[in-house]
Amino acid sequence: MKITIHEEDELQVAARQLISEFSADRVFCFYGEMGAGKTTFIKKICELLGATDVTSSPTFSIVNEYVRINGEAIYHFDFYRIEKLDDAYQIGVEDYLYSGNYCFLEWPENVAPLIEDDFVKVKIEIGENYSRIIQAGKYL
Ligand SMILES: Nc1ncnc2c1ncn2[C@@H]1O[C@H](COP(=O)(O)OP(=O)(O)O)[C@@H](O)[C@H]1O
Ligand SMILES: [Mg+2]
Repeated sequence: MKITIHEEDELQVAARQLISEFSADRVFCFYGEMGAGKTTFIKKICELLGATDVTSSPTFSIVNEYVRINGEAIYHFDFYRIEKLDDAYQIGVEDYLYSGNYCFLEWPENVAPLIEDDFVKVKIEIGENYSRIIQAGKYL
């Protein structure tokens, strides 16, 4: 998948495309510099999946849990501040990643040993005029 969007409103289209193209997948890793739009895109995806409250964000904790209208959990990780891989193991990161629930990871670079080939990689780049180029695949 590769899509260029020119305003935040179009993220909904990108979210729908991502979730339908990777309908069998549950773990999505978001790559992109600070301000690229990872958190914003993840929140749009969570809304699409029927998360009832996506106002909180995991900036001050490693993982945030949202609940879908069907009762399923969605896990949103932000590994920006993680200092060592062991901190991820401490919170039971593997239990989350292999729970079968949707997991969205920001700064997966910081927990590289945990990232499997089978996880979906989403790369967000800032283009001209504040556009965003969003690419997704298992191997980027
Ligand atoms: N697709 C987009 N188009 C234009 N602006 C965006 C887009 N996505 C995010 N932004 C803006 O960029 C800023 C940073 O977004 P954020 O999602 O916090 O980035 P990140 O999590 O990658 O650091 C926010 O002010 C947001 O409104
Ligand atoms: Mg962020």
